Order: sequence, then C-alpha cells, then structure tokens
Amino acid sequence: MTIRDIATLPDLILRRKARPVTKFDGNLQTLIDNMIDTMRAAPGVGLAAPQVGVSERVIVVEYGDEEDETVPKKLYALVNPEFKAIPQETEVGVEGCLSVPGLLGEVERSLAVTVKGLNRRGQPMRIKAKGWLARIIQHEIDHLNGVVFTDRATKIWKPAPEEAVVDNV
Ligand code: NI
Repeated sequence: MTIRDIATLPDLILRRKARPVTKFDGNLQTLIDNMIDTMRAAPGVGLAAPQVGVSERVIVVEYGDEEDETVPKKLYALVNPEFKAIPQETEVGVEGCLSVPGLLGEVERSLAVTVKGLNRRGQPMRIKAKGWLARIIQHEIDHLNGVVFTDRATKIWKPAPEEAVVDNV
C-alpha cells in the first residue's frame, strides 16, 4: 500500500489542465493503485491524479449508497473521462475537497450525467450516474481541468467541527 501526499491550494498542479493518458502501462497501474490507497486513507470518496501531483487525466471514485449501507461500495477508476449532462436539471449540494482543507461550499451541478472513458486496461466504459455519484464525478473531472469547487461555489464557509461530516473529494 502506498499513500501519496495530497496537493493543496495554492499548489499550481491543481490549476493545470491535465494531459490525456496514452499508455496503459505499469506506471498507470501503480498510479491508480496508489490513488485508491490515498483516497481510502484520507478518507475520501473521490480523487483525481493532479491531487497526488500527476497531471494526467485519471480519476478514482468509491461510492457507497448513503441510505443503504448493506449495498457494497462500488469502486471506479476512469481514464480520460468525459461527461455529458442534461443542463436544465441541476441541484445545489455541499462539497468539500481534500485539496482545499477546512472549507465547505454550496455548488450547483448537473443532477445526472453520462460518463464516457477508459478503464485501467484501456477498454471503453460508460457509466450513468445521478445524485451524489454524479456530483463526485463532476468534481473530479473539474480537477483534471484545473478547476476546484471554490471556483464554482455560490457560498463558501469554514465548518464548525460538528458540521464537518461531508465526504471529501
Ligand atoms: Ni476535490
């Protein structure tokens, strides 16, 4: 298990547009495994490669149903992900980010998205996501474009200790 350091603002790697992955080699497999370890240790529910100092288009997401803990968590590793949304259907939700410690914000995002990308072996994959999973994926793809949630937030605040229960991404 390898846990990498998580970059935080104002680290410029978080502001760079990450480059597409072209090689599905051992380095990529190690990066993805390290990202999963780092996300779980943080703990977080999503992580993008720039957050561990690698400016490449890779995200990992581990999502469990908040209402039903008996449903096993699902782990996604997505390479070169892109999403399409229905722009008319949005929802405002509270987000926190491992790269922006100590702040929460209200962000309006698409309620449902279709995500296209490649899996860790380079095979095409497609996910339909809604709600919190759709929000996490949009937040992580933002990281690949140098965008953090505080850029989009309509309201930002420092949570009181008892309020800091939002899953970080
Ligand atoms: Ni984040």
